[in-house]
Amino acid sequence: MYRFKTDLKHSDITPQASFLNRRDLIVGAAGLAVAGSIGGSVKAGTKMMGIKSIYSSDEKQTSSENAMSYNNFYEFGTGKSDPMDYADKLTTDPWSVEIGGLVNNPGHYSIEDILKDVTLEERIYRLRCVEAWSMVVPWIGFQLSDLIAKADPTGSAKYVAFETLYRPEEMRGQKSRSIPWPYVEGLRMDEAMNPLTILATGMYDEALPNQCGAPLRLVVPWKYGFKSIKSIVKITLTEKEPPTTWNKISAREYGFYANVNPEVDHPRWSQSSHRPIGGGLFAKRETTLKFNGYGDDVARMYAGMDLQKFF
Ligand code: MTE
Repeated sequence: MYRFKTDLKHSDITPQASFLNRRDLIVGAAGLAVAGSIGGSVKAGTKMMGIKSIYSSDEKQTSSENAMSYNNFYEFGTGKSDPMDYADKLTTDPWSVEIGGLVNNPGHYSIEDILKDVTLEERIYRLRCVEAWSMVVPWIGFQLSDLIAKADPTGSAKYVAFETLYRPEEMRGQKSRSIPWPYVEGLRMDEAMNPLTILATGMYDEALPNQCGAPLRLVVPWKYGFKSIKSIVKITLTEKEPPTTWNKISAREYGFYANVNPEVDHPRWSQSSHRPIGGGLFAKRETTLKFNGYGDDVARMYAGMDLQKFF
């Protein structure tokens, strides 16, 4: 079975190690800032490195070709290869994220601004889609909690709402009404602050390709893939649970929590196993673990909740 190196907590890293991490980051961020000034900061294919993370799993990685050609990104069409075929139209530089709601430091933060204060890590995570396929990707990203701390939430913030760019002239799928636009997602505050939750800016040692959510996407490894909202332009801290796209489309099929849970089937299919992509149609299915295997780190957040009801 999987081996997760999550017995160490972020805070357990020695001061010496975190100093080194910071320094690595500064080098990385400075490099990015320079690249940014010549217009290449978050362009797909730009080299992007992260320090090895204690939160990585040691599962067999999906090939980058598979992870970048079999995608869900309805802004470019509903077919799995539409994102790869059409996402190059999207301009990702410059890019800024509007952070607002219940925070003391609201504003428009450029990607360069965001990256200069965070530690980029390589996090090998399995993304498990609700459609019962999965892939294991070495993401490059930083903890969402670092960005939220920078925005300085007020005491009444209980949820974090995310929004994807709406730009139909570059996102051809938005010209149709396949789903409501813009794509929106949300997390409860404790989920957003959990050290496993990252905002990814790269994968396989390069800046994210557009079809994977450039220049900034969420990755929440214990939840179904639809929570991992791509190409984020807005983050709002709220008191009430925010609406989420798939829940708006079918509340019966897609809950707000969307925790990977083999005990709660989708009304139309089982969630007890998944098919790693890249293995072909006849590849052996793998058993799905509750919380995608991260129970030790996240189960306590749902203690006392009926997960059949709050799915
Ligand atoms: N984000 C936006 N903006 N639009 C989308 O259609 N699809 C979601 C999620 N994020 C989606 C999105 C779904 S259903 C999944 S499974 C994952 O992205 C897929 O991520 P991947 O293509 O990197 O595997």
